[in-house]
Amino acid sequence: SKVNENKEYYEIMEEAHNYYKEEMFKNTARDALEYLSKRKINPKLIKENEIGYAPNEWTGLYDYLIKKGFEKKKIFDLGLAKENEKGIYDAFRNRIIFPIYSVSGKIIAFGGRSLEDSKDIPKYINSQETPIFSKGKNLYGFIQKGSNIKKKNYSILMEGYMDVLSSHSYGFDVALAPLGTALTEEQAHLLKKYTNNVILSFDMDEAGQKATERSILILKSAGFNIRVLLYKDAKDPDDYLKKYGKEAFLKVVKDSLEAFDYLYLRYSSEYSLEDHMSKQNFINRFKDFFQCLESDLERSLYIDKLGKSLNIELDVLKSILITNNKKRI
Ligand code: CTP
Ligand code: MN
Ligand code: MN
Ligand code: MN
Ligand code: MN
Repeated sequence: SKVNENKEYYEIMEEAHNYYKEEMFKNTARDALEYLSKRKINPKLIKENEIGYAPNEWTGLYDYLIKKGFEKKKIFDLGLAKENEKGIYDAFRNRIIFPIYSVSGKIIAFGGRSLEDSKDIPKYINSQETPIFSKGKNLYGFIQKGSNIKKKNYSILMEGYMDVLSSHSYGFDVALAPLGTALTEEQAHLLKKYTNNVILSFDMDEAGQKATERSILILKSAGFNIRVLLYKDAKDPDDYLKKYGKEAFLKVVKDSLEAFDYLYLRYSSEYSLEDHMSKQNFINRFKDFFQCLESDLERSLYIDKLGKSLNIELDVLKSILITNNKKRI
């Protein structure tokens, strides 16, 4: 049956994880430990977060799993090993391994980071879609910290594994990451079971800010209160925390902007607002956002703010921004 089949998949993932964890503390993992220590991830954090190491071998994991009696086909189904004309090879080699858990606490995937930043190899490799994993439905950091999110009644969404790990180690135990993809509707609905409040803290580069804009639409459609965290002189939350520390991060959390104000700031930098055309284009930029709003109160508050700041009559703004066919994200 499907349930029994999945049971074996979970067992294989668990064993693979054991293998990666054991490898982390062997002599052959010296470079990996050194890399992690450079990034301020000490052995205590490694253990707490069950980080592993995939050694620089072609079939280390594959041989280990076969020896344990697992089927080749199932190992391949999980994307842990692959085959080409030269033979079988492990998917993750010479990489730091981050385990990804399902909501019910089972290992369903791995993320693997290379030990060097080189153009020739991808920085991250993630498990492919498998019978037990679809990345748009899970969030990194979720299972261990789900209960804190409920208790504290908010979450901070970040781009990457390292951002989440650093945040947790600095006490921000409500940080989650959407696993290398832009946030999906399913992830938003999953999070909604724990809180209505999200702070977006993606990278400060253009890719991160675009992802912020897209995520605002998805989260608004799901009815979240959204704030956006902005900071200077750091690439991402991991970088920020390591440079400036916990108190500074608390300050930027406190200074985070309400989603509308964030969009206002972002869009104002794109238009001069000195002539009709540029005002019109500026207003049009808000269309998607307004179509995602569920609350009449919010709609009216934001129309008001826009009207005041642009000196435009509210009826005109309403006719542009409030249409009857609501967009569903
Ligand atoms: N990512 C990925 N594949 C890549 C690059 C990124 O899957 N080739 C995903 C990873 O989950 C990564 C996230 O997107 O954590 C954010 O990417 P990026 O900002 O480039 O990486 P960082 O998380 O900052 O990684 P690091 O600090 O280790 O450089
Ligand atoms: Mn990034
Ligand atoms: Mn929805
Ligand atoms: Mn980073
Ligand atoms: Mn980053």
